[in-house]
Amino acid sequence: MKPVLLFFVFGSTAALAIDFKKDIRPILKENCYECHSKESGKEKAGYIFDDVETLKLDIQPKGIIVPNQPEESYLLEVMTMDVSEKAHMPPKEAMSAKDIGKIREWIAAGASLEGEGAATLPAPAGPLDWTNTEGRTIKAGFVRLEGENVVLKMPANGQEIPYPLAKLNAASQAQAKAAAEGK
Ligand code: HEC
Repeated sequence: MKPVLLFFVFGSTAALAIDFKKDIRPILKENCYECHSKESGKEKAGYIFDDVETLKLDIQPKGIIVPNQPEESYLLEVMTMDVSEKAHMPPKEAMSAKDIGKIREWIAAGASLEGEGAATLPAPAGPLDWTNTEGRTIKAGFVRLEGENVVLKMPANGQEIPYPLAKLNAASQAQAKAAAEGK
């Protein structure tokens, strides 16, 4: 019998937690548009961040935004490297940890540019205990029900992972349904 943790580790999914228009665009506008936008007419190093069609080209495995992989994303690297480095963006200015955290979360969730709809998803609750039919318990936040799965948020890395409802014990199944109705 495989430990359930394996399932949690490999069952990852790209869930939308952050809204591009509401959460991400204002950060780029404030920190980057001055030198990288149609609006300002400046396209330093060829990057424009206020045009969705152009931005889309940056979001791909070989682009500066690698969906689901913040650590592979050069966009995040230029924001987080030492401010004294020449490639640091914005040049010579540190961004707030909160804004950088949002960018990281957005990329981790798949770097979607669809703003609509995402804002209506329920906010993830704090961690709860979930026990499966084999009697193993983990702590995770409830995100939503999705078909036959409950989507749980891992407290360690914020990853959202679907887990089959049928594999949870009766109490945990009831907890998932109650959490979904409570939102
Ligand atoms: C004050 C102007 C300015 C601002 C603001 C600015 N940049 Fe830049 N950016 C530049 C210039 C100039 C270059 C080209 C630097 C070079 O090639 O050495 C550049 C280059 C880049 C590159 C390519 C770097 C490379 O190594 O090829 C990326 C990616 C980038 N910027 C992202 C951003 C992001 C993201 C922001 C906002 C967080 C931002 N920039 C804000 C001026 C700016």
